[in-house]
Amino acid sequence: MPNHRVQLTRPCCGLWLILLLGHGIKLQDFAFMVENDIMIESMHTLDYVRKSFNSTTSRTDRSKIGQFLTPAAIAQFMSSMFETGLQEVRILDPGAGAGVLFATSVETLLSQENRPLSIKVVAYETDSTVLPYLEETLNRCHLLCISNSIEFHGIIKREDFVSAAIAETRESLFAVPRERFTHVILNPPYKKINSQTAMSRMLYSSGIEVANLYAVFVWLSMRLLESGGQMVAITPRSFCNGPYFKKFRAAFLRMMNLKQIYIFESRKKAFGDDNVLQENIIYHAVRGLQKPESIKISASEDLDFDKVRTISIPYGRVVHLGDRDMFIHLDVDDADASPAERIKCFTSSLNKLGLSVSTGRVVDFRARGYLRQSPQKETVPLIYPCHFLNGFINWPVESGRKPNAIVSSAETSDLLVEAGFYVLTKRFSSKEQQRRVMAAIYDPAMIDTRLVGFENHLNYFHNQGKGLPADLAKGLALYLNSTIVDQYFRLFSGHTQVNATDLRKMPYPTREQLLRLGTYVKERMPDQETIDAIIEKECLNCEQ
Ligand SMILES: C[S@@+](CC[C@H](N)C(=O)[O-])C[C@H]1O[C@@H](n2cnc3c(N)ncnc32)[C@H](O)[C@@H]1O
Repeated sequence: MPNHRVQLTRPCCGLWLILLLGHGIKLQDFAFMVENDIMIESMHTLDYVRKSFNSTTSRTDRSKIGQFLTPAAIAQFMSSMFETGLQEVRILDPGAGAGVLFATSVETLLSQENRPLSIKVVAYETDSTVLPYLEETLNRCHLLCISNSIEFHGIIKREDFVSAAIAETRESLFAVPRERFTHVILNPPYKKINSQTAMSRMLYSSGIEVANLYAVFVWLSMRLLESGGQMVAITPRSFCNGPYFKKFRAAFLRMMNLKQIYIFESRKKAFGDDNVLQENIIYHAVRGLQKPESIKISASEDLDFDKVRTISIPYGRVVHLGDRDMFIHLDVDDADASPAERIKCFTSSLNKLGLSVSTGRVVDFRARGYLRQSPQKETVPLIYPCHFLNGFINWPVESGRKPNAIVSSAETSDLLVEAGFYVLTKRFSSKEQQRRVMAAIYDPAMIDTRLVGFENHLNYFHNQGKGLPADLAKGLALYLNSTIVDQYFRLFSGHTQVNATDLRKMPYPTREQLLRLGTYVKERMPDQETIDAIIEKECLNCEQ
């Protein structure tokens, strides 16, 4: 990766000095830097500004408005993703915070051989506490450009980006063509949008249907790009799959040509000091209808971007041809060793197997009047994730907080299923849990009942609403508990939730393979190492 770090020229040092002192950096610290001939990089100052802002505001307040400022190293890496060569650059930074993203973009442009002749920056920001920092950063960019004989024009728009962008992009017969940008760089605020609000209605009427503010920012930003204009964004990766972001994905993949995705290997790394546990990705995309042949997928273990590993993956492996859900599959391993490659020996699907997966029908808070802590005369078992034990269902669990039973009556009959062999998976895993996919077998021989209720925190695999053959269920549970399935699942799922939709899209072993796998499961699930060895052996079998 090219090194775009910019060493400050002398005229800028004075400005930096004012900026640093303004934010409580001691004069002796600055002198120390100079005397010791340390290369004073703008990066350090941008990080001082970030730390200084963070120290004067509370994390709770920042969290309320989704204000996690980008560390300078990440901003610099993001800026380096832009393709170069334009003479007139117009940069949009929506939700600019202290301005680190456009600042590193300007510096990157200036550090290139092929510098632009003019740069314009438009930064939107609504939080008055961060505005003084933003103004200073913009001034610094101005001076940097002047000292490099480059025309600079910077505008701070102290207004809501969403309303402004909707107005800017509203189509009208008589509308004057509005300004469009050559570059957008953004780390947008993350916040759920309540569907009953005026904002949600305004978005809906302009064709934007997505429930998180970050995706709204990206959606509007791409509309504000000129054809061939480029976007670099850092956002949660939750938009890559799942039903809530389907319309956003469709718009994004239609309007944009996705070129590169960077994956943070550790959830805590991106905004580590801000304690943000969100799984983030960085992506570079160019506005245009043409789709690339391949996409670059990069990753590194920490924030040392000089150690980034990059592989090129055919576009069709990231966005599968004909996939109506348009999932974006993220795969960073080498092709041969990747879970996506290894899982290819399992060629069946739930459809081909004649099986289905559904979400447990008992939503406990809606059925509260029918729930009982312990089994009674008119009740049947109610199964929760807390009943999972060693790959089977262990029921009842009297010491737990969850009820063990549900009244069986005409009112609850639709919520119950006939006893039989089922495979259950947990829908939610905690962030720190090692696995996302966790499966257990409901064995009817272990619980004496004719009917059973599966609570809504579970998904259950069934055969047209009824149980599965015992060995098939056992084989399926073993397969779902394998490492390869968990890794494959993580490729396209950024969140900790395991939806039935996601499970339907997984590849599965054939019936014969499942029956063979099932013979390894006795009264408890084998340990992880054994499960993986069994699966490995099955893969070798099908290669021969
Ligand atoms: C996640 S922070 C990122 C800031 C900056 N881009 C960076 O990378 O450091 C998002 C910023 O968007 C601002 N913001 C939130 N809602 C906004 C809106 N509707 N219009 C403009 N800015 C907004 C917040 O105040 C915050 O500074």
